[in-house]
Amino acid sequence: MAYAVEITDVHKHFKAVHALRGLSLHIERGITYGLLGPNGAGKTTLIRIMLGLLSPDSGEVRVLGARMPDKAVLRRLGYMPQQAALYDDLTVRQNIEFFAIVGGLNGDVRRAADEAIALVDLSDRARSRVRELSGGMKQRCSLACALVHQPEVLLLDEPTVGVDPQLRVQFWQHFRRLNEQGVTLIVSSHVMDEAERCDRLGFIRGGRLLAEGTASELRRRAGTATLEEAFLQFAEEAAAGSQFPVVSL
Ligand SMILES: Nc1ncnc2c1ncn2[C@@H]1O[C@H](COP(=O)(O)OP(=O)(O)OP(=O)(O)O)[C@@H](O)[C@H]1O
Ligand SMILES: [Mg+2]
Repeated sequence: MAYAVEITDVHKHFKAVHALRGLSLHIERGITYGLLGPNGAGKTTLIRIMLGLLSPDSGEVRVLGARMPDKAVLRRLGYMPQQAALYDDLTVRQNIEFFAIVGGLNGDVRRAADEAIALVDLSDRARSRVRELSGGMKQRCSLACALVHQPEVLLLDEPTVGVDPQLRVQFWQHFRRLNEQGVTLIVSSHVMDEAERCDRLGFIRGGRLLAEGTASELRRRAGTATLEEAFLQFAEEAAAGSQFPVVSL
């Protein structure tokens, strides 16, 4: 089975807000897929629907072949939420070991935690309580918690916000290594230079998929030099399309 995620015609409302409007998306296994879009585009809503934490009003979501929500599949997924969901009173190591156990890690929890701590460069803060960490350190701890149980699909909601440039580069190098091991990464971002590092991108706006492809395909199709310009071009085309809907007679 080639796809990690198959999303078909998903709609989601929050009262009057139509957050996802018939969004369909297929994500192949073993790649890094970027979800790009402005504030309120629907990125977080889409990620939570992929995890089965939110249910769509209509449409179908399959992850690793199973229709979500599915508890057995949830253990094979890792999630780094946009706002870190850590236990403030526990130390960095305790948080990471907790998520390793809850995630059903097969193997040595302590060793897996050591590796995750080293990866996010928090070895000298492993015994600090989370409430004593800086914002960027919390972000790094949150990433370690998401990947410590060695998930097959990692969903990272703006993982590098607040992370310094050097560590950001290390994160992306690690994401690439995970891909080589067959792990699928789904990363939301507004940062277009990060988008360049993704194998494929989905431009999302107003709960719709504006365009989809590799960064170079998207630039070429839009006829622009940069991804920012390509995004604006696709957004303008979509807005023009909705003003003058194509009616077949
Ligand atoms: N729990 C909720 N209750 C009500 N409205 C919500 C809720 N969650 C999201 N929304 C609305 O759904 C829309 C999409 O929000 P979402 O958080 O998915 O956007 P986003 O692309 O992740 O934005 P950001 O870049 O700011 O994180 C927004 O209009 C938001 O106000
Ligand atoms: Mg969001």
